[in-house]
Amino acid sequence: MRISIIGSGYVGLCTAVGFASKGHEVICVDIDEEKVKKINNSETPIFEENLENMLKDAISKKLLYATTNINDAIINSDISFITVGTPSMLNGDMSLEYIKKASEDIGNTLEKKNSYHVIVVKSTVLPETTEKIIIPIIEKDSGKIVGRNFGICMNPEFLREGKAISDFINPDRIVIGEYDKKTGDILEKLYKDFDSPIIRTSLKTAEMIKYASNAFLATKISFINEIGNICKKLGIDTNEVAKAMGLDKRISPHFLESGIGFGGSCFPKDVSALINKAKKINYESKLLETVIDINRNQPEKIVEILLKKMDIKGKKIAVLGLAFKPKTDDIRDSPAISVINSLMNKGAKIYAYDPKAELNAKKIIPDINYCKSIGEALDNSDACLILTDWPEFKSLSDKDFSRMNKKIIIEGRKVLENVDNFEGVCW
Ligand code: UDX
Repeated sequence: MRISIIGSGYVGLCTAVGFASKGHEVICVDIDEEKVKKINNSETPIFEENLENMLKDAISKKLLYATTNINDAIINSDISFITVGTPSMLNGDMSLEYIKKASEDIGNTLEKKNSYHVIVVKSTVLPETTEKIIIPIIEKDSGKIVGRNFGICMNPEFLREGKAISDFINPDRIVIGEYDKKTGDILEKLYKDFDSPIIRTSLKTAEMIKYASNAFLATKISFINEIGNICKKLGIDTNEVAKAMGLDKRISPHFLESGIGFGGSCFPKDVSALINKAKKINYESKLLETVIDINRNQPEKIVEILLKKMDIKGKKIAVLGLAFKPKTDDIRDSPAISVINSLMNKGAKIYAYDPKAELNAKKIIPDINYCKSIGEALDNSDACLILTDWPEFKSLSDKDFSRMNKKIIIEGRKVLENVDNFEGVCW
């Protein structure tokens, strides 16, 4: 099938490359000319495992190209995925700016297109957005009728940063919210060579499945962090508790790692947007408010532990890890930012190392010392906090930490395997 992808950011590019790897012809659309140029040169604007070689392969087979021209892309494709961002606004609401712009552009193009076209909303949008915002804009700007001249589906993504390509190729489930059976059938056909269960449902149910899934995962993390904070006061290792809990199939071992809280561009944004949506329909989601509250306070727990050990004013604190999770350079809502701000407010001097996220971190926290190696951060430091579980930290040994003035090590994420005498935020 000929596919156009409206918005070639993180989700769009991984979706484009994933469909191209299945033999489909894909046109990536973006407003950013630099990004379009990079993609056409087989350069990936984001760091994601396997993305670069799959992009090179797709381009060499002439199955994928990028353009800033959305009209050409829609005219020369049968199905268009909307994969633009829905960032948080200051009050926690979801911003629809890019969704509305994409819908207008699609409407304006469909006005000139006579053949049937399928639109697929893959951006994370709150329940009722497709029906109440996107369809009316496309109908108004195209003069066409949904169900007659064009079809629409809502097909949420469940991609994890660092594993996005494998999550796209091997999804646990494919959710198709459909305006009508005709469009749902077309989308199901597109996914026919994926070995995953397909759920056919309504548009707003599909929108809710995405939010409910992320909100549950965030809840599970805040739950184990609450248990972790209690365990810490009792001198219990939360990881041992979690391991035994996880053997219960109903609980599962996944997403049961306590630490300094969840970050990233999804969980904080999606849970806040769902809370605000619930408020608008006169429902106060106390549980989700608490999930956010626990998460907001979690990074400070590691600072409290450090302050019990030493006065940090004027001291050199080594920080290993800035990214919100390993295998990504993304520091959006990373707990490391709150930890570092708190340490700096108390007069500490920060020496930070992260294998990938330095460039992005400098944009948000410019006035700390960035080190080119773990050793440089540890040299003559008075304490060390580990804030991202990068695999390269696993092999650190007592010898590495002997470079410190005093061996005070606190893990914000469970990662050290060859070191004695350290503790963790919940262990
Ligand atoms: C998440 C969802 O997993 C994915 O399905 C959705 O499409 C997008 O949001 P992502 O944000 O990329 O993916 O990262 P994820 O691996 O889920 O981790 C999110 C945060 O939770 C990270 O900061 C991670 O460190 C933290 N986390 C994760 C925990 O603190 N404990 C855990 O047990 C798991």
